[in-house]
Amino acid sequence: MAGLFATKPLDKILAEANETGEHSLRRALGLFHLIAIGIGSIIGTGIFVLTGAAAAHHAGPAILLSFVLAAVACVFSGLCYSEFASMIPVAGSAYTYGYATLGEFIAWIIGWDLILEYALGAATVASGWSGYVLSFLQDFGILLPPKLAGAPGTEFVLYHGHWERLTAQLQKALALAHIDPVSLPHQYSSFNLFGFLGILFVTAILVIGIKESVTLTSVVVIVKICVLLVFIGLGANYILGHRAEAVANWTPFLPTNTGHYGDFGWSGIATAAGVIFFAYIGFDQVSTAAQESKNPVRDLPIGILGSLAICTIIYILVAGVLTGLVKYTSLDAPAPIAMGIEITGVRWGSTLVKLGAICGLSSAMVVTLLGQSRIFFSMSRDGLLPEWVSAVHPRFRTPYISTILVGVCVALVASLTPINVMSELVSIGTLLAFVIVCAGVWILRRRGTEVPRAFVTPWIPFTPIMGIAVSLLMMLSLGWETWARLIIWLAVGVIVYFSYGRKHSNVQRERAAERSPK
Ligand code: ALA
Repeated sequence: MAGLFATKPLDKILAEANETGEHSLRRALGLFHLIAIGIGSIIGTGIFVLTGAAAAHHAGPAILLSFVLAAVACVFSGLCYSEFASMIPVAGSAYTYGYATLGEFIAWIIGWDLILEYALGAATVASGWSGYVLSFLQDFGILLPPKLAGAPGTEFVLYHGHWERLTAQLQKALALAHIDPVSLPHQYSSFNLFGFLGILFVTAILVIGIKESVTLTSVVVIVKICVLLVFIGLGANYILGHRAEAVANWTPFLPTNTGHYGDFGWSGIATAAGVIFFAYIGFDQVSTAAQESKNPVRDLPIGILGSLAICTIIYILVAGVLTGLVKYTSLDAPAPIAMGIEITGVRWGSTLVKLGAICGLSSAMVVTLLGQSRIFFSMSRDGLLPEWVSAVHPRFRTPYISTILVGVCVALVASLTPINVMSELVSIGTLLAFVIVCAGVWILRRRGTEVPRAFVTPWIPFTPIMGIAVSLLMMLSLGWETWARLIIWLAVGVIVYFSYGRKHSNVQRERAAERSPK
């Protein structure tokens, strides 16, 4: 067990980060790119899909307060991430911070856990993306065979001459028409084709280059922000002209609790915050671009906290407008934002929102997969994963082998797993990383480690303690199945560590060399 908690010296980490040459990543990103990476990965399935169900089932119009609560929780972790990012600007993010402070074994656990946030996160977004693509194509009469239109087990019925997904909304429509869904012809999906193709496309972009990937992301980020701003503008304009209608939709602002924890009332606000936490995941991904940033020490904290602040403001406005346009009880729909804009009577709005969601979710996929390959890159450079994982393409200067391998695996997962299973596992994995990062900042301060950093987390130990407490609380709000999956995943990670990482780790090798007689 000796050396299990050996830390990697900070000066060594920083020296490696400053390496240049054809085996290093290219420093091409400015502050604008970093903020684009943050917003690119934050705005996605959460705001475009999950907001509606969270309002309809847990918080009502008070979903607005859930967005504030989840944002506050993220700010505590965001402050801790910022300190680490400005002190250890290395592509490995939380994994490297863990290596410098808590030791190799914990670092490995974080690295392994981050696969849930990044790789599985990308798969989740791909699944949401494929839903929007299908819905958009359907508007133009283009339909995919049910077998290829969803994760295995997704149910379709033949209604009005074409195959439709059996959603709660369709069930309600069938009930109104006195049609028993069982009486309709059925088919079940076996493969989510668009989820698969979406990830393969993104993988190809990522292999070609960081600058190209991030430039594309920046353009798409602008598009998706504009779409949400158009939604806020059109919605607010409609609300101003129909105040009584909006006030009726906003009343009661905080629906009375039904007697069950989490079903409206104050506990409903907390539960909804746990659900829409997914919408904020991604600000930490700015830190994975550290080695490609031109001025990481200054730009990373601004990138992390800036993207979080911008998205918080947008989310609160979107939630306020959406619940003013549509009664919360009707919001449990696959495309709630499009539903909101349809109320305004602006015909092109719905198409615009669907297009915006498709673009927005593509950029989220790019950034999330980018983060995954950079974390594998760092783990491989430390010897915890095989050397070929960090092999950089001589022309594109990207870690192409790991990018392609991760891309193919993620594409398969995205096409074969239901979205709700993936999204909860992503949330629990991310929250665990937040807990460890907050603990790391605190430990570092207690040890009095003197490393210059441009950003210092305020109110130690209050900030990390709050970050840990709020993250743990949100983890507890997730179901036991998700906990079981997390534990199994971590157990597999421990096996991989002892069978490969520990034997090949550079830190362990150096320790052994120091101990051996000269
Ligand atoms: N925050 C990202 C999303 O909502 C993960 O899709």
